[in-house]
Amino acid sequence: MRRRLILALCALYSAAAALAAEPPRLVQQDGRWVLLVDGEPFVMFAVQANNSSNYPAMLDEVWPAVERLGANTLQMPVAWEQIEPEEGRFDFSFVDTLVEQARARHVRLVLLWFATWKNNAPHYAPAWVKLDNARFPRVVGADGRLVDSLSPHGEQTLAADRKAFAALMRHLRKVDGRHHTVIMVQVQNESGTYGSARDYSARAQRLFEAPVPEALRRALDLPAGTWPEVFGEDADEVFHAWHIARYCDAVAAAGQAEYPLPMYVNAALRDPFNPGRPGQYASGGPTDNVLDVWKAAAPHLAVLAPDLYMPEYDKAMAVFDRYTRPDNPLFVAEIGNRERYARYLFAVLGRGGIGFSPFGLDFTGYANAPLGVERVDEAALEPFRRVYALFVPWARQWARLAASTEVWGVAEPDPGQTPEQRLDLGRWDAVVSYNRPMFWIDPPKGHDPPVGGAVFARLGPDEYLVIGHRARVEFQPSAELAGARGLFEFVDEGHYDARGRWVFRRRWNGDQTDWGLNFTDRPQWLRVKLAIWDRGERAADEAKRSE
Ligand code: DGJ
Repeated sequence: MRRRLILALCALYSAAAALAAEPPRLVQQDGRWVLLVDGEPFVMFAVQANNSSNYPAMLDEVWPAVERLGANTLQMPVAWEQIEPEEGRFDFSFVDTLVEQARARHVRLVLLWFATWKNNAPHYAPAWVKLDNARFPRVVGADGRLVDSLSPHGEQTLAADRKAFAALMRHLRKVDGRHHTVIMVQVQNESGTYGSARDYSARAQRLFEAPVPEALRRALDLPAGTWPEVFGEDADEVFHAWHIARYCDAVAAAGQAEYPLPMYVNAALRDPFNPGRPGQYASGGPTDNVLDVWKAAAPHLAVLAPDLYMPEYDKAMAVFDRYTRPDNPLFVAEIGNRERYARYLFAVLGRGGIGFSPFGLDFTGYANAPLGVERVDEAALEPFRRVYALFVPWARQWARLAASTEVWGVAEPDPGQTPEQRLDLGRWDAVVSYNRPMFWIDPPKGHDPPVGGAVFARLGPDEYLVIGHRARVEFQPSAELAGARGLFEFVDEGHYDARGRWVFRRRWNGDQTDWGLNFTDRPQWLRVKLAIWDRGERAADEAKRSE
């Protein structure tokens, strides 16, 4: 008996060890996207370093910010110019230092491959690339002038980028293949072209006048024809998007052949309501209007991720909704670091998001106002530290819930918008309101700047995990239970231990529940069980029924 038990335990242990030995990967379970790290669901409560923080000497000014924020993941650029300063001579010393230091701090890494495109330009490519227009051609604008963006049709550019990226991934497998400190890799940065919808060089023109590739036509269910015939006035942009996406996919494929980590691209967004013309925004990048094109072109890129620098609530919601798709998990790869952006964490988690990353929060002395704060200091970190503090101690548990059950989330709307939201949670509606006293019915005033939010995870038909931030959460029976009146069967505060078991702290009742559940900025996780005490039948009918 004992022997059998030991054998069973050994089998279990080796199954767990095999999963843990696997490189990180993105999978879909019952329609939910899950990032598995060491075989366990993982959500990236991340932070992105400034663009030029990618040198060993800067790391001492990066880690204190990561630690202060409580982030579990750091996104850090790795520049082509730094790993291959001369063609064929590779230097991975920064990568080694970074990985070693991250591992010592138990922080995971997402590496950002700054190469052919960094915000449209090739400035992170080595000098032997970015100064050789003959071998590595730039985009030619409609007026015949060169644009400072590399052409996706440059065969030698693609070959050189792939070679360098493959070398990076090979090296990574060697130094990190067993540890998985690096969990994802971003291919290029905000690819696309400003100042021209596409490349108008003779070579590009020939391709433009040729038939649209069958793979794209099939994916979009379109008839045969040349690019202008099939796509009309969108042809320039779709053509450019297809070729950039194919290029990025080929780079990702070369890297994954060495070490198969999940890879993604990030998007310099268009305004979701007034997008302007391609070229005014980064034409050809994974903007919301060409996501289907990118999906068809780039099977090796698991995620098309938005970089959000539009603070307005309605725009943020439109962006999150457009990038949350059955074929695309939501990963906000960059978000502005001003206070008003921190609330969006709740909206992202509520969409089953796999990660969230405020940009440029390190102590290297650079601040990207007006996109972000004027000064990056501890005070600037505070709004993000606070919302991360609600999750980070139990981040694995949130990830497990998001991987296995329904979740919802809301962020506080902008000043001037109604500071109250209703969410349909099935048999119950949740009403979330902002800036009201903890006691009494005073109407919500909303915060300026807006800071609140709440997330919910289903634990049972009438039971939810609720985590709020500077918000009041109330529940009402939904239309399904029309006429009925409910109450809290219990509201228990606590947390989950490392094995996922609930650890009870106290029960909320009386003042703490009579005026809804009033969340401050304390990290409080509540298990809320709701019940109907009155089905809405008149007392006389009820009495008759029980006779
Ligand atoms: C978006 C880019 O992806 C980042 O690298 C950075 O340049 C910011 N814009 C602006 O600070």
